[in-house]
This record gives sequence, structure tokens and C-alpha cells, in this order.
Amino acid sequence: MNGHLNGKVTVVGSGFYGSTTAQRLAEYNVFKTVVLTDILEGKPEGLALDLNQSRSVEGFETKVVGATTGMDGSGYEATADSDVVVITAGLPRKPGMSRMDLLETNAKIVRGVAENIAKHSPHAVIIVVSNPLDEMTALAQIASNFPHNRVMGQAGMLDTARFTHFVAEELGVAVGAVKTLTLGSHGDTMVPVPSRCTVNGKPLSDLLSAEKIEELVVRTRNGGAEVVALLKTGSAYYAPSAAAARMAKAVIEDSGAIMPVCAWVDGEYGIKGVYLGVEAEIGKSGVRKVVETALTATEIASLKEAAEAVRSKQSDIQSL
Ligand code: LAC
Repeated sequence: MNGHLNGKVTVVGSGFYGSTTAQRLAEYNVFKTVVLTDILEGKPEGLALDLNQSRSVEGFETKVVGATTGMDGSGYEATADSDVVVITAGLPRKPGMSRMDLLETNAKIVRGVAENIAKHSPHAVIIVVSNPLDEMTALAQIASNFPHNRVMGQAGMLDTARFTHFVAEELGVAVGAVKTLTLGSHGDTMVPVPSRCTVNGKPLSDLLSAEKIEELVVRTRNGGAEVVALLKTGSAYYAPSAAAARMAKAVIEDSGAIMPVCAWVDGEYGIKGVYLGVEAEIGKSGVRKVVETALTATEIASLKEAAEAVRSKQSDIQSL
């Protein structure tokens, strides 16, 4: 009956982002096991029990396991031999903070987590969502010492989803009719790509003025901060967890889906040796390949600018 269930995914961090991601992953009814961890004793176990008790109602057979972990690596046995690991550990933003304000605090946390994950799940694909995203992804690769293709970050899926929502709302059309794309960093140098945006196959620029598109681009770039300002404590998690869970599903299903993710770029677009938001083909090995898309000269210039901004920060993290 459960023959179709396959593999193990660990979600590190049982905050709203982590617990919602675990819920989505469990409800897919695709994985055999979803492990949820936290350093707060009892929290992951409690959430796992609660999620398991929803199984008969929601109709999924995936088992959720909760495990309290310590910074010393205790408790990580429960995560052993995961196929995919989503790292949500770290602090979220408070109103007025930029993602970059979290750099030092989250670097310590993410480094420790990545080392412990690498020890217990040496063949896993790691998906980082902790902020600042591009830097934490680069750090997780360094700390795990995994090949670059097996460490990626979630950002583009989320930023694209926000952009799509704003366009659909503006035009009063179904979100399913809208295709958008964002590349670059998950921050100030995010590069929404209007030339790749369509509504029912028609170019967005035929439907909205340049000023209106720019307005939606700015709102997309500030999409996370807008939610943080409203929530006052914590940051967004419904759209972020949807994005991260879909990436983990693409990995376990070896689907080959092309998604905008934070991936190691090594020559594509003339950019070399940096983690950056690009489109990539996702499968069992993580990033199968970065997929280059046709961009306008302005978009390429913005992407290169994002790469340099992220590169300078990513070189600082070696020491954190
Ligand atoms: C956001 C955070 C999760 O964009 O980075 O909402």
C-alpha cells in the first residue's frame, strides 16, 4: 500500500518556515519519512506527533519524525541517510532589518548544521533557505564540503511566485495564466526579468506600461519585507515553504523540472564561481545543470551586478 513512498527528507528548524515545509512535504505523500528537527527540546517531537495525527484526515502515509538536536551534533542520528535536507535554521528578520543583518548570527548556525548534516547524510542534496540566502547557501557548501551541485538555495521560486501573484492581481487574471521569472540575488540585487514574463503567452510589456511593470518589480524585490512589516514578528512562510517543498519534491522524483534556484554558476552568462539565482534543471543529483535563458543586455548587466555584489559577501563568509 505504501510502495510508492520513497526516500527521506529532513527539515532542520521547526519554526513556521520549517514546520510548514514539513507539513507540505508530508502531505505530498511521496516521501517515506519526513524528519523535523530543532534545538528547542520537544518542539519537533510535538509537531511531528501532531502532523502524524492528521494523516488519516488528509490521507497521507508519510511518517513524520521529530528530533531535538544540539549544537554539539546530538540528535542528528535521526536524520541519518536523508536524500534531501532543507535547512531553515537561523533567525528571521524583524521589521526594518535587511536579510544581510542576519549574516553573522545565521552563519554560525548554518555552519554547524551543514557540518552535522554532512556527517550523517553524506549523499544528501541540501536546500538552504536561511537568510541572507545566497551567502548561507555558499556557506553550507563550504561547511558540508559537498560538490556544488548538491547544495542549492531557495529564492527564485519564491520571488517568481510573488511576481506572478502581483501580475495576476494587477491584470485580474488567473495566476495559472501568468509566467514570470526572477534571477540574481534574494535581496537588493534581485533581477526580475520582465522580458521573460507572459500572460496567456502574450508578452507582459504588451499588457502593462513600463512604469507599472517597474512598480511590480519593486514590490517583488521588497516582497519579503512587506510581509515582515505586517507580521511584526517573524517573516513569511507560506509562499517560502511552498517553494522549498517543491524543490525537495523535484529532487526525490528526479523530475528534471527547470526552476529558478540559487545555484553555483560556473561560466554561464559569463559569470564564474559564485552562488546566484538562475534557472536550473533539478533532479536526484541536485542541480543537474544551470539553464541559460535569453536575456536582454540590461538584464544581463543587472545579473552581473548581482553576481559581483553576492561574490564580495560570499568571500567574507569563509571566516564566519
Ligand atoms: C522572504 C524571506 C523568507 O523572502 O527571505 O520572505
